[in-house]
Amino acid sequence: MPLLEVDHVVVQFGGVTAVDEACFAAEAGRVTGLIGPNGAGKTTCFNVISGLQKPTRGAVRFDGRKVTSVPVHRRSKRGMGRTFQRLEAFGSLSVRDNVRVAADIHRGLLGAVRGLGSSSRGGVDALLERVGIAAYADERADSIPTGTARLLELARCLAGDPQLLLLDEPSSGLDETETDDFGDLLRDLAAEGRAILMVEHDMDLVMGVCDEIHVLDFGSVIASGTPQAIRGDAAVQKAYLGYAPDDEHPAEHPAEHPAEATRTDLPLLGDDTTVLPAVGASPLPGGAR
Ligand SMILES: Nc1ncnc2c1ncn2[C@@H]1O[C@H](COP(=O)(O)OP(=O)(O)OP(=O)(O)O)[C@@H](O)[C@H]1O
Ligand SMILES: [Mg+2]
Repeated sequence: MPLLEVDHVVVQFGGVTAVDEACFAAEAGRVTGLIGPNGAGKTTCFNVISGLQKPTRGAVRFDGRKVTSVPVHRRSKRGMGRTFQRLEAFGSLSVRDNVRVAADIHRGLLGAVRGLGSSSRGGVDALLERVGIAAYADERADSIPTGTARLLELARCLAGDPQLLLLDEPSSGLDETETDDFGDLLRDLAAEGRAILMVEHDMDLVMGVCDEIHVLDFGSVIASGTPQAIRGDAAVQKAYLGYAPDDEHPAEHPAEHPAEATRTDLPLLGDDTTVLPAVGASPLPGGAR
């Protein structure tokens, strides 16, 4: 049984259906990707899973129990951790204190009084070391680069020792080496038995690190499968590009067909298979909304 199940979730904002009968799962010990063009409903799904957004319909199950009506803090206590697309650290606190506060919040007032759990300097510094930002421990959180701030978010999330990590665009702002290290860290975290559900626009990272990928488009899951299956899926290519590269009659949809020059900008695999573009980094006609 998957650790997390999203079951026919619908979210409507007035006339906008942000999530439309979405069904997907994330399993312990695996890295699962949730991808899709801008506005596809990925962050809204995370809000529903973590309890910030009540779904119009549908259910969320975590560790075999329905949690659709369980408040955010209880989901967190049960083992859900989350990072945000918009950074949420305390800017005036140091990097170390940001992680310490997260650890203190997680163990709660009673735990702090009874001396339960650990937000010791050693424990916090070990977390900073693990995510690769120990050198920034004494810097104010509002003075560090965006990529470092994303890793700080991850350290804050890990301070709660979550079974499920929900990571919303965790690699944006990281350079190539940092992204490689981050991918290794994700694999390590999964190997510890955690479930990782990651929204990410860096397709090299997604394709390299995920065991399974779910693709959202206009709030619906249009494909689920291994990176290899997703890469070759015509519906996915169409969602991102506005057309499938193997489409024999692209001229029938001239309005949707991006300029040929744009296609040559897409990263290619050795066998000339087109890899999905990083839509957040470089929006494509018909793909980014
Ligand atoms: N609070 C809200 N009120 C009204 N509409 C909203 C709200 N939150 C999201 N939406 C709309 O719901 C849709 C899905 O938004 P969401 O932020 O979930 O997309 P996303 O896949 O995370 O996009 P991105 O890749 O740009 O982060 C969009 O059309 C967005 O404008
Ligand atoms: Mg989003």
